[in-house]
Amino acid sequence: MDKKSRNALIAGNWKMNMLASQVPAYWQGLESGAKLAEGVSSALCVPFPMIPAMKAALAGSQVKVGAQDVSAHDKGAYTGEVSAAMLADLGVDYCIIGHSERRAYHAESDELVNAKLKALLGAGITPIMCCGETLEQRDAGVTLSFVESQIKGGLAGVSAEEMKKVVIAYEPIWAIGTGRTATAEQAQEVCGYIRGVLACLYGAELAKGVQILYGGSMNGKNAAELLAQPDIDGGLIGGASLKPEFADIIGAANEG
Ligand code: 13P
Repeated sequence: MDKKSRNALIAGNWKMNMLASQVPAYWQGLESGAKLAEGVSSALCVPFPMIPAMKAALAGSQVKVGAQDVSAHDKGAYTGEVSAAMLADLGVDYCIIGHSERRAYHAESDELVNAKLKALLGAGITPIMCCGETLEQRDAGVTLSFVESQIKGGLAGVSAEEMKKVVIAYEPIWAIGTGRTATAEQAQEVCGYIRGVLACLYGAELAKGVQILYGGSMNGKNAAELLAQPDIDGGLIGGASLKPEFADIIGAANEG
């Protein structure tokens, strides 16, 4: 299986932006972008309270709804937490885990990301597991070893069958929200390395089938070049997913 046989996935990450009441108008603007290509999987990962409104808006379209986090616990006395079963019950298809903002502001470890990943798999939701280095780590030349440790930690105890349902997103922290995109070569180098790590863990054939996304200041202008790289199968889009420009990125994935 090579890049051509891997379906592209363009996922938006709204982070803590927008309101449920703004969802219908947002979706109208996106639909009128008219580039919501059939051959590309796409999803919008929204804050928990917006999931029902987004489900309703996207009904009948091929765009899926995603969440941005999940509890590692099944149920019980965990005030403020949201379980994987609750997300599945709302019809959520994807869930981001291990985003660098959660790792930085909520002290999420690879062990916790691993537990969340397993909770999602148990509920039939596709995890989008994030990894990526700081600028200091890049400058120190430890990008590849750091990302490898995040991948191995996050996937500990995950079987080959389960791995077929996991999406990986490489998001260099220095490129997130900064307007400073990784060059296509930088992004390809790490995404290709990640596929190599997966090949060591699960075998080359399985690794070739895993969707690996790039995230970090991806937009309508730079998407095509990034998506043309052999190991970049899609994007995790922050700021640009809040605008009709998101449809342009889906369009770029379809042309790639
Ligand atoms: P930006 O596209 O705003 O840089 O955010 C990327 C990101 O963090 C997606 O998860």
